[in-house]
Amino acid sequence: MKTRITELFGIQHPIIQGGMHFVGFAELAAAVSNAGGLGIITALTQKTAADLAKEIARCREMTDKPFGVNLTFLPTVQAPDYPAYISAIIEGGVKIVETAGRNPQEHLPQLKAAGIKVIHKCTSVRHSLKAEAIGCDAVSVDGFECGGHPGEDDIPNMILLPRAAEELKIPFVASGGMADARSLVASLALGADGINMGTRFIATQEAPVHENVKRAIVAASELDTRLVMRPLRNTERVLVNPAVERLLEKEASLGQNIKFEDIIEEVAGVYPKIMKEGKTDAGVWSCGMVAGLIHDIPSCRELIDRIMSDAEAIIRQRLTGMLG
Ligand SMILES: Cc1cc2nc3c(=O)[nH]c(=O)nc-3n(C[C@H](O)[C@H](O)[C@H](O)COP(=O)(O)O)c2cc1C
Repeated sequence: MKTRITELFGIQHPIIQGGMHFVGFAELAAAVSNAGGLGIITALTQKTAADLAKEIARCREMTDKPFGVNLTFLPTVQAPDYPAYISAIIEGGVKIVETAGRNPQEHLPQLKAAGIKVIHKCTSVRHSLKAEAIGCDAVSVDGFECGGHPGEDDIPNMILLPRAAEELKIPFVASGGMADARSLVASLALGADGINMGTRFIATQEAPVHENVKRAIVAASELDTRLVMRPLRNTERVLVNPAVERLLEKEASLGQNIKFEDIIEEVAGVYPKIMKEGKTDAGVWSCGMVAGLIHDIPSCRELIDRIMSDAEAIIRQRLTGMLG
C-alpha cells in the first residue's frame, strides 16, 4: 500500500508504533521496522542522552530499516536536557522524530537542519494546524480513545479525523483506538494516510515488557480504562486498577484544590515496576480503550501482515462488493 506517509518515511506499510514510556526500547522499534512499519524509540525512557545514543546504536544493529525517536516535551519545571537528546538523535543518524506534548517549534531548526522529518502528535485540529504552520512534515492525530494523554477536548476520532482532513495540507496518521485492518481502512476512509498504534503494540511478542502487562491488556475490555489527572489539566487514559481507584478517590475528595504532590505515589516512577517487574497494580499506566479489541499476543510481523492482508480483503471484497 502506498500513501503519503509510506512515501514520506520510506516505509512499506502505513503503520507507526507511537513512542511509549518504558515500552519503546530498541527491541520493539526494530521489530516494527523490520515488519515494514515505523518503529519508534522513546527518548526520555533513557536516563541520559548518552544512554539514548546507545539505544539508537542497539536498534541499528537489529534493523537496517528506517526507525524514529519520540521526543516528549513534558509539563515539568525541570526540563530534561532536550538539546543533548536531539544531538544524540542527529549523531545517531536517525531521520525521523515523533514529537509530542508541547509545541516543538524551538527545536525544529536543529532537527530540520539535520534533514530529519518531524511528525508531531497532537489531539486537536488547532494544534495540528499549528504543527503544519511551524513546518512539521506530518501529524499524528490522537483521538479521545487513545491510551496516554488525550488532551482536554474529548473529540473521538470519528469526528476528529475528518475534521483534520478538512483543514490539513500535510499528511496525517490516525492515532488512538487503532488495532486492526478495520481501523486502518476506516482511517483511510476518514482522510488519514495511515495509523499510529500504542496499546496494540504492547501486546506483541517483541515488546520488551513483562508478560503480566501483555496479559492485562488482553484481559481488559473497552470498559476498563479511566481518565485520571483531569483536574490538573494533564488528563491521562489508564487501565483501571486499585492505584487508579485510589487516585480517583483523592480527585473526588480534594476537588479543584488537588495538587500533583497529592497523587505522586500513584504516578511518579511507577513505570519500571509495572513494565519491567510486572507489578501491574503498582501505579497508574497508560492504556487505550482499544484494549477491548486486543485478544492475542502476536509477533509484530504477524500483526502487521494480518492488518495489511485483511485491509486488502476489506477493500477488494467487502467494500468493492457493496458497489455491485
Ligand atoms: C504505556 C503507554 C505509554 C505511552 N508513553 C508515551 C510517551 O512517553 N510519549 C508519547 O508521546 N506518547 C506516549 N504514549 C501514547 C502512544 O504513543 C500513542 O499515541 C497512543 O497509545 C495511541 O493510542 P492507542 O493506545 O489507543 O493506540 C503512551 C501510550 C501507552 C499505552
